[in-house]
Amino acid sequence: MENLIAHAKSMRTLAHAPYSNYTVGAAVLTSDGEMIGGCNVESSSYGLTCCAERVALYRAVAAGHSSFKALAVATENGGSLCGACRQVVWDLCGDIPIFITDNQNNVEETSTLQLLPEAFDQSKLK
Ligand code: THU
Repeated sequence: MENLIAHAKSMRTLAHAPYSNYTVGAAVLTSDGEMIGGCNVESSSYGLTCCAERVALYRAVAAGHSSFKALAVATENGGSLCGACRQVVWDLCGDIPIFITDNQNNVEETSTLQLLPEAFDQSKLK
């Protein structure tokens, strides 16, 4: 997991966050052992911004991956995943370990179900 956390930290340096100045990096570990990263990308039309976690996951899906083992997120202050990202992580990854790190290298381990209990998902649509 150290490599995944380091990857998330390095992705944070690529963030495009001129409006909030809050940079976020993320990295997802695929079931076949690949690490795929993302950073937040903001828009002058604020609602079009995409979080680092979703950039990482959408990149991974677009590269042909469909099974994931873990996610790491890097922020300056250990800020947690937004609600929209929690839903997307649940939909695409299920209950995986999530590591959140900050500028002091603290690491908090949580999981999708801890962050999003009683989640809505595809099973309710059938
Ligand atoms: N942000 C993320 O990238 N991930 C989250 O889970 C929380 C928020 C970004 C979006 C925006 O660019 C900035 O942080 C401030 O909200």
